[in-house]
Amino acid sequence: MDYKVTSVTAEQTRNWGKYLAAYLLPGDVLALIGDLGAGKTAFAQGIGEGLGVTRPMASPTFTLIHEYEGQCQGTEIHLVHMDLYRLQHPHEVEVIGVEESFSGDSICLIEWPEIAEDYLPENRLDVEILGSGEQPREIVFHGNEGNWEQRITAMIHSKEEKLGGS
Ligand SMILES: Nc1ncnc2c1ncn2[C@@H]1O[C@H](COP(=O)(O)OP(=O)(O)OP(=O)(O)O)[C@@H](O)[C@H]1O
Ligand SMILES: [Mg+2]
Repeated sequence: MDYKVTSVTAEQTRNWGKYLAAYLLPGDVLALIGDLGAGKTAFAQGIGEGLGVTRPMASPTFTLIHEYEGQCQGTEIHLVHMDLYRLQHPHEVEVIGVEESFSGDSICLIEWPEIAEDYLPENRLDVEILGSGEQPREIVFHGNEGNWEQRITAMIHSKEEKLGGS
């Protein structure tokens, strides 16, 4: 099942990442899907903020993989932020060690995940951001397997309660 939310500004997109961070668990893998400039990095930065990452998170466009220290559910984790845009062939996914980042003490965020399709775990969360430029964005959450549905509905309900109360 897909869950959709709307974001009108880059800050709102970042905030959705921050809200989601509260529901993440060590070992999670998230595929961030969307066109150039959709807001994948903004969303990833929000997740970083929510996981207590203090170093600024720049786009890994040229370096492919960035790693940060954060906290998730009271434990120390590595937040791995990848951008596979520049890869040309699925074989390179193995060469740069994408799979090594899928570990129980890491949370892994992958921009441009399409080329790594065959290597991604089934129980990942897909986050697709539709829209670009100054258009409002639609953020679609799609959990393939696992308990993503419960986690995403809990996140959306908690956000609605906050909005309703203010
Ligand atoms: N609602 C919105 N959500 C996200 N970004 C927005 C929104 N409205 C405008 N923007 C702008 O769109 C751009 C999104 O940039 P960002 O680097 O996050 O995209 P990206 O999907 O990571 O792109 P790339 O594919 O190049 O990595 C920023 O310049 C941001 O200010
Ligand atoms: Mg990006």
